[in-house]
Amino acid sequence: MSSGARSATPIGDLLHLRAARVVPGGIYGHTDASMLWSGAPKFVKRAQGCRFWDADGREYIDLMCSWGPILHGHGHPVVEEAVARQASQVDCGNAPTAAFVELAELFVDTVEHADWAMFAKNGTDVVTLATGLARARTGKQIILTPEGSHHGRLPPRYTSERTSASDRLHRTVFRFNDLTSVEERLIAHSGNVAGVLVPAFLHNAGEDQELPHPEFVRGLRRLCDIYDAVLIVDDVRAGFRLTNGCSWEQFGVEPDLSAWSKAIANGYPISALLGTDAMREVARTVFIAGSFWMSGVPMAAAIATINVLNADDGLGRMRDRGEQLVQGLREQADRYGLGVRVTGPVTMPYLRFIDDADLAVTERWAAEVANGGVFLHPRHNWFISTAHTVADIDHILEASDRAFSVIAGRM
Ligand SMILES: Cc1ncc(COP(=O)(O)O)c(C=O)c1O
Repeated sequence: MSSGARSATPIGDLLHLRAARVVPGGIYGHTDASMLWSGAPKFVKRAQGCRFWDADGREYIDLMCSWGPILHGHGHPVVEEAVARQASQVDCGNAPTAAFVELAELFVDTVEHADWAMFAKNGTDVVTLATGLARARTGKQIILTPEGSHHGRLPPRYTSERTSASDRLHRTVFRFNDLTSVEERLIAHSGNVAGVLVPAFLHNAGEDQELPHPEFVRGLRRLCDIYDAVLIVDDVRAGFRLTNGCSWEQFGVEPDLSAWSKAIANGYPISALLGTDAMREVARTVFIAGSFWMSGVPMAAAIATINVLNADDGLGRMRDRGEQLVQGLREQADRYGLGVRVTGPVTMPYLRFIDDADLAVTERWAAEVANGGVFLHPRHNWFISTAHTVADIDHILEASDRAFSVIAGRM
């Protein structure tokens, strides 16, 4: 990878200093690269396909895909053309555009359990809507979620950290893949569990990822039916990276609601809440609105994104590239005698070193990979896109091989 001209103080660091004066903490949330190794890309200047350039002109192959949204590579021509066409007419208008109806129809055609669709902006919006609808439909209060699972930052009751006593009152946790722990919670809060909110698979930050057991998925559906709780699949992160429909379709299970965002519009801001007919009446009667939720441009982008995914077996290609990457990483670590675990679906893998509780070694490895021109995160799963080619994965594996050799002390 080529590296751009470097000033004495990197431009990214200068921008960060300026930001710190006018923004609390400088950069906030998950994009705060100042928590990573010195020299990690703090600001992005440009992106194309599966590559991006940081503020200092350093080029990286992008294994984070903007933390999920980029499904077909940055600036995909079909998506950009749809965006330009819609933008030349109207984006934020007084009423929805035709794209609103077309996108809802496309989701209903594409996702098995979906009889209807509604749209918002962020994952948090639709997760919040889903839990609100579950409460409104059942007249109950408590939402069950797996220990440690992330479903958005607001309201705090759905996060695992810094929750207040009143927040905890309305949220109770169970162990992922452990049906007994779900039933215990349902019994302990008898008659007051409105819904079970569950991610497509467990992707807690900095931990090995855990795929759902089919019997857990089917059992959860059964328990929700028995206890009249709404089953909500949070597909915000995994949607369209595991299947062309809801991630739990592969187990023959249909949730009552599913929440989507990230990948559905190749980077344009939109989220979707999909539901069954049984949830239609409550969704119709609760007042749901947001200033930008009807914007036409992200809807046009979503239609193009989904059509591109289905047109040329994008999922199959992502799986092949993911398999190439995961197998290559395991083989390299073995060769260097290093203990690592590569977990999760191959299209959303995560690697951490064994016996690396504070992830210090994993981070050192990620920093070495970045020196080879590849950006991946030491505490968060990565994302494959349809834009990654065999040659790109080969390049990533060259960088990872060098990084393993440094960790093994052989350079
Ligand atoms: C599974 C899951 N649900 C919900 C959210 C929240 O989405 P957003 O950050 O767009 O509000 C995220 C974000 O990472 C997520 O991974």
